[in-house]
Amino acid sequence: MKILVVGSGAREHALAWKLAAERAVSGVLCAPGNPGIAAVARCVEGDVANPRSLLEIAARESVDLTVVGPELPLSLGVVDLFAAERRAIVGPSRAAAALESSKAFAKDVMRRHGVPTAAFEVCDSAAAAYAVIASGALGYPLVLKADGLAAGKGVVIAPDRAGAEDAVRRTMVDRRFGAAGDRIVLEECLVGEEASYFVLADGTACMPLTSAQDHKRIFDGDRGPNTGGMGAFAPAPRLTPEMERRVLRDIVQPVLEAMAEEGYPFRGFLYVGLMLTASGPRVVEFNVRLGDPEAQVLLPRFDEDLSSLLSAAAAGALPSRAARFRREPHVGVVLAAAGYPDSVETGRVITGLDDAARVPDALVFHAATQRQHGTLVTAGGRVLTVVGHGTGYGEAIDVAYRAASHIRFEGMQFRRDIGRKALDAEAP
Ligand code: AMP
Ligand code: GLY
Repeated sequence: MKILVVGSGAREHALAWKLAAERAVSGVLCAPGNPGIAAVARCVEGDVANPRSLLEIAARESVDLTVVGPELPLSLGVVDLFAAERRAIVGPSRAAAALESSKAFAKDVMRRHGVPTAAFEVCDSAAAAYAVIASGALGYPLVLKADGLAAGKGVVIAPDRAGAEDAVRRTMVDRRFGAAGDRIVLEECLVGEEASYFVLADGTACMPLTSAQDHKRIFDGDRGPNTGGMGAFAPAPRLTPEMERRVLRDIVQPVLEAMAEEGYPFRGFLYVGLMLTASGPRVVEFNVRLGDPEAQVLLPRFDEDLSSLLSAAAAGALPSRAARFRREPHVGVVLAAAGYPDSVETGRVITGLDDAARVPDALVFHAATQRQHGTLVTAGGRVLTVVGHGTGYGEAIDVAYRAASHIRFEGMQFRRDIGRKALDAEAP
């Protein structure tokens, strides 16, 4: 089986690395890929913002199965395009991808089907938003979200009325997220620990995968602005087996049934972002793909052939059982460029990768790296994810940080507390 992985981050590196090692896989292509991915797959030019370029690659290279990493091509209808040409692909249709690309759509599905989530109002104008704020019905802090895709940056948690009105002004009047903020969702602020849960769906059936926990803020102790994710661990010990059953019964099943009933069956990875509140798990967001950096700690734990499950998902023939995972916890630390999550410096020389990769039980996945005249340099905000595993979280953390300690580039920043929450959760 020849597989095309779409994307160029550390999530796609983890996907390509896992697939390339499987017996049923004869070759992995990646569009556009990166220098780390090039060690396990053949990278081909392709534009994730241009689904037609991806279809052309799949046809030209006689690819048997395509798997999509990032949300953008999904929201642009890459799956619909492949389906029209009868080419196998794993991911939701454009209509089903609205679970991520429109927060108002996702909230509406949840409201209509009684799925536990934060109370909310959808507002199509600044005037409507000011009116909801003036009513005070959702309390403070108040959460404001741009409806459309905003790379994880379209959410503001406003402490009071002035802050909320200011956020409405910046999003809807100044349009700092462009058209993504022409509609906003105002939401009740949920309190608890965040965790995510993943399933693979085939349109009707769904295979439970596992949990993970991201570290979204830039600085230790969850301080500073939100990022795409500065590190992750899997599994998430606070998401107990009992809670996992509730998530599947009260959230995943009703949402997948609703999507099928309403004419947009969901196929692909569903990422359920949860707040573990005092009254149980509630949905913060859905993503229609694997998370990044969650994939980097989830995929190495996968204890069976991913390629055969992906083929089954694309064909609507997933077996009705949970996927098998290794017990060992994995911890992934993101090494980011100076300035991230705002504008970053690029072109900084990266050293120490070979020494890092030689640390037993460590893996290094590339994200924003680039080869310049034979030298590996930084090419964006999140540069690498360094993953460690061990018999416990403590060991996994040690391995990840030991491997990371070999890596250097000017301005490198990373959190020192990735995984600590898992240790706290385990402590008696
Ligand atoms: P989202 O893009 O919806 O995942 O939101 C980004 C981040 O904002 C989440 O990971 C949470 O940390 C935070 N957040 C979003 N919605 C809420 C909410 N209703 N209550 C508390 N925090 C939230
Ligand atoms: N790490 C969060 C995401 O992938 O959306």
